[in-house]
Amino acid sequence: MRIFLDTANIEEIKQAVKLGVISGITTNPSLMAQAKATDYEAAIKEICAIISGPVSTEVTVEGVDAMLKQARQIASWSPCIVVKIPSTLEGLEVISTLAEENIRVNCTLCFSVNQALLAARAGAAYISPFVGRLDDIGQDGMQLVEDIVKIYKNYPEIKTEVIAASIRHPEHCIRAAKIGAHIATMPYKVLLQMIQHPLTDIGNKRFLADFKNVSR
Ligand code: G3P
Repeated sequence: MRIFLDTANIEEIKQAVKLGVISGITTNPSLMAQAKATDYEAAIKEICAIISGPVSTEVTVEGVDAMLKQARQIASWSPCIVVKIPSTLEGLEVISTLAEENIRVNCTLCFSVNQALLAARAGAAYISPFVGRLDDIGQDGMQLVEDIVKIYKNYPEIKTEVIAASIRHPEHCIRAAKIGAHIATMPYKVLLQMIQHPLTDIGNKRFLADFKNVSR
């Protein structure tokens, strides 16, 4: 399972890239606002300059024509760009047109298997089931990821990659990997939690202390 960072925070991206474990970035308008970005294009181009992998960038308009126009503009900013299009009826039309133009799409805000099936048939490069938001309403978000992965596997001609998104804690990462999701995109905080273990810290401290007693 590849790991993407779900943030528009430049410092977090720089720190995470240094670890050598990040293959891409996903952003959305809320994350851009949290990062206090003022110039959408400049902020995305800055991210693309830091990481060589895919950078998912969401359209911020409604309507097929407006989404298509903006998606083409966004795609021209960098070869890294993957355009994020919502899992809606209009979104399907946009995805299929962009796919014909070889513009990669991450179909976002996916909350059902049927949305994922249609997105794949429209030609989306990625599908993003939002795990945490389903958990928030009392459903098992990771079950949706499992169902999508299983159903896509039934049809080997489907090349759409599954991104477990809206990840809230490290247990989500483990489940996503067990299921065989291609990618999990997570906040920087969750990435840090993945490496932490108290026994590692205790053990490391003891090794360093004991080494002081090793005769030289
Ligand atoms: O990648 C999707 C993600 O940004 C949504 O996460 O935590 O707002 O549900 P969250």
